[in-house]
Amino acid sequence: MICFENVSKIFESDVEAISDLTLKVEEGEVLVLLGRSGSGKTTALRLINRLIEPTSGKVLIKGRDISTLDPIHLRRNIGYAIQHIGLFPHMTVAENIAIVPRLLNWKDVQIEKRVDDLLEMVRLAPSEYRHRFPSQLSGGQRQRVGVARALAGDPSIILMDEPFGALDPLTREIVQGEFMELQAELKKTIVFVTHDIIEAVKLGDRIALLETGKLVELCSPSQLVEKQESELVDHFLGNQRFQLSLLTRNLKSLLHKVKKQEGSCSREGAHLLMRYSLTEALNVFKSSRKETLPLFEGKNYMGHIDKKQLFDVLLEII
Ligand SMILES: Nc1ncnc2c1ncn2[C@@H]1O[C@H](COP(=O)(O)OP(=O)(O)OP(=O)(O)O)[C@@H](O)[C@H]1O
Ligand SMILES: [Mg+2]
Repeated sequence: MICFENVSKIFESDVEAISDLTLKVEEGEVLVLLGRSGSGKTTALRLINRLIEPTSGKVLIKGRDISTLDPIHLRRNIGYAIQHIGLFPHMTVAENIAIVPRLLNWKDVQIEKRVDDLLEMVRLAPSEYRHRFPSQLSGGQRQRVGVARALAGDPSIILMDEPFGALDPLTREIVQGEFMELQAELKKTIVFVTHDIIEAVKLGDRIALLETGKLVELCSPSQLVEKQESELVDHFLGNQRFQLSLLTRNLKSLLHKVKKQEGSCSREGAHLLMRYSLTEALNVFKSSRKETLPLFEGKNYMGHIDKKQLFDVLLEII
């Protein structure tokens, strides 16, 4: 879908921000760019929508060299949630979200509906928020509007540069959950920048680790967490390998152990979802104080899981 072919970017100051990057982002995946500050993450992202042009090499989208495409047209078809939010302060929430649909000449009624749908999606009640200005929102609410704006023109590609960076840990977790639910439904091709390993592991289908502009690892979150003998990986994982292992495994791995009970089961009350990581599942057991919980795939009841079955899995990990 998006291909970097031997891309380098040297700025005038002689900084090689991206160095011979070859990387393919598959259609419908969330590829996380992870790396320390200054490692080239934002530069890599901006090479995709031509806010930055490569010094050498090529970026292709769906097989087409983007240097041959009109940059304005290209950008209208790529959602971009920028680092530090970047909402226009003199425009209302609704106007901010509507920028790309207006450029795409959508009809007014269609735009109004799109704005309301997106606000609902990011859990901001349209009647309350559509007429506010960015200065009348909390940092977390502004970031949600930034995400809604990136989705507005229904682009198949979305670039997100630390979109949840300004959120407190709790709000961040909620918004990350919303992001995952949305992505399960929308299946966009997303390049997501973060320097937060937990966020990378939670949200990424694959993680590309950058260091001084070079790609040093490209693998799934679980492969990254199990990777040994890499100083850089150690730097990012710190002493969180075990917690991260719990995050990279979801309840699918327990499916063969679930006990199906007769009849239907309601999703009201404490329950588990198949996509939950082991960490989330443990949290539901802790907060509900139940010994056994029903498991659902979307709305479908899959069976019950016992607390003890979860513990057995933890023992296997250690
Ligand atoms: N316009 C520019 N002119 C000169 N150097 C630049 C420019 N933009 C970025 N750089 C340099 O390129 C390198 C990579 O910057 P980039 O913004 O891509 O890093 P980053 O990984 O996004 O960092 P952060 O996590 O702090 O946002 C840095 O050394 C930076 O100083
Ligand atoms: Mg950056």
